Amino acid sequence: MKACIFCNSKPNPCLKFQSLLLLLTLTSTLCSSQSPSLILPLRTQEIPSGSFPKSPNKLPFHHNVTLTVSVTVGTPPQNVSMVIDTGSELSWLNCNRTRNFTFDPTRSSSYKPIPCSSPTCTTRTQDLSIPASCDSNKLCHATLTYADFSSSEGCLAADEFSIGSSGISGLVFGCMDSIFDPNSDEDSKNTGLMGMNRGSLSFVSQMAFPKFSYCISGSDFSGVLLLGDSNFSLVAPLNYTPLIQISTPLPYFDRVAYTVQLEGIKVLNKLLPIPKSDFEPDHTGAGQTMVDSGTQFTFLLGPVYTALRTEFLNQTAHILRVYEDPNFVFQGAMDLCYRVGLNQSKLPQLPSVTLMFRGAEMKVSGNQLLYRVRGEVRGSDSLYCFTFGNSDLLGVEAFVIGHHHQQNVWMEFDLHNSRIGLAEVQCDLAGQKFGFNV
Ligand SMILES: *[C@@H]1O[C@H](CO)[C@@H](O)[C@H](O)[C@H]1NC(C)=O
Ligand SMILES: *[C@@H]1O[C@H](CO)[C@@H](O)[C@H](O)[C@H]1NC(C)=O
Ligand SMILES: *[C@@H]1O[C@H](CO)[C@@H](O)[C@H](O)[C@H]1NC(C)=O
Ligand SMILES: *[C@@H]1O[C@H](CO)[C@@H](O)[C@H](O)[C@H]1NC(C)=O
Ligand SMILES: *[C@@H]1O[C@H](CO)[C@@H](O)[C@H](O)[C@H]1NC(C)=O
Ligand SMILES: *[C@@H]1O[C@H](CO)[C@@H](O)[C@H](O)[C@H]1NC(C)=O
Ligand SMILES: *[C@@H]1O[C@H](CO)[C@@H](O)[C@H](O)[C@H]1NC(C)=O
Repeated sequence: MKACIFCNSKPNPCLKFQSLLLLLTLTSTLCSSQSPSLILPLRTQEIPSGSFPKSPNKLPFHHNVTLTVSVTVGTPPQNVSMVIDTGSELSWLNCNRTRNFTFDPTRSSSYKPIPCSSPTCTTRTQDLSIPASCDSNKLCHATLTYADFSSSEGCLAADEFSIGSSGISGLVFGCMDSIFDPNSDEDSKNTGLMGMNRGSLSFVSQMAFPKFSYCISGSDFSGVLLLGDSNFSLVAPLNYTPLIQISTPLPYFDRVAYTVQLEGIKVLNKLLPIPKSDFEPDHTGAGQTMVDSGTQFTFLLGPVYTALRTEFLNQTAHILRVYEDPNFVFQGAMDLCYRVGLNQSKLPQLPSVTLMFRGAEMKVSGNQLLYRVRGEVRGSDSLYCFTFGNSDLLGVEAFVIGHHHQQNVWMEFDLHNSRIGLAEVQCDLAGQKFGFNV
């Protein structure tokens, strides 16, 4: 199915659109000779713990913060907000009417369930962890499984999606009606998931955008999402790291993930003594490094994590007090935590941690290094944990670069050239360069 019909009535390479966010109603014009670009407000949203939306095959913990964007679906359009997830493929919406659903397919005249005889059902769902099957009505049945062993099921369907003032008809997504998650709370079910990985059914693949970019503000809950070509290199030079592809399928290697090559880690100026081979996937595919907007923190495989923990601990020994409780492990993977006086208004100057990718670096500094754990008070201290966790404790066979460390970094996912571009920026200033107030 050729799904990409960008409903831009005029054959004008300059696409004019209006952002929909209340406070930031602006008009911008972007030009592109090939595909039109689209800039959207991105919101970082805190969602109560133990809640939706979940991403298939994800780390087995619930994260609180998600990047969401507003979209309309169906005819007449229904408003939904979707979480941007570069770590998954199929976009989905909660379509169960007995629940607080996201999308009601019965009210959309353009909604079309996909028959199981369709090649979309038979061949294009092969990258999903469970390929689609045929239901009793001969409709394509999708099942998504999650790392915590819960799952959701529903129909593979197509409908019109509009984002900004542009739209696509026949976008394939999962209209899920049974969602097994007793912990899920009502509010969060109002949100869907926008799959952004390199699989053929992902939102970005179906829209046929050659690239997309985002910038997440570190200071508030805002950001910018740019779908399509950008001129960001005019604002600040981007450093590129190639996406790693493998030709043969390996059991632990996610071939449609955004995989980059980590080559080293520095704490301040000290390079950790880790052999390069510790950063490379092994013969089973375990050990790839994925850039994932759907995961909050960053997780490193055991030996690398331990080396980082040891060095960070060493360099902070004189400025921070370690919280010594072997039973306290934040989110099941972060076991380096500190006590910080409740009366202490700010953290001391911390040594930065630099993730060195092939061709590009990502420097994590200041408050991004420590995360205050809510509701945890010890005497007159609050607890702050190091924002890098141990993948081994989660049973995850990969390095995962989460969105907490992508704050104030322009992240460009260049599918066309198979690379990721990074530049340290102030997102609000970067947004202004595109005529957009973040
Ligand atoms: C990028 O900038 C160049 C020069 O300013 C301009 O010609 C081109 O149209 C711009 N492209 C986009 C996608 O904004
Ligand atoms: C997530 O948010 C909820 C409330 O919104 C809070 O109670 C919980 O402690 C948060 N969890 C983390 C890990 O920050
Ligand atoms: C959808 O959102 C737009 C913009 O916020 C608003 O004007 C419109 O009334 C909403 N529609 C529905 C059905 O809630
Ligand atoms: C919709 O959700 C309700 C409540 O959780 C559940 O009982 C029902 O089986 C679901 N519907 C379908 C079609 O799965
Ligand atoms: C559904 O969710 C919305 C938004 O979170 C909330 O305002 C509304 O009360 C919920 N409705 C039901 C029936 O739970
Ligand atoms: C930090 O590492 C240095 C060099 O290995 C060592 O001399 C020093 O004792 C360590 N400091 C602490 C507090 O562990
Ligand atoms: C915070 O309180 C502790 C004792 O309760 C005191 O020793 C310390 O000086 C205080 N720090 C600040 C920054 O006020």
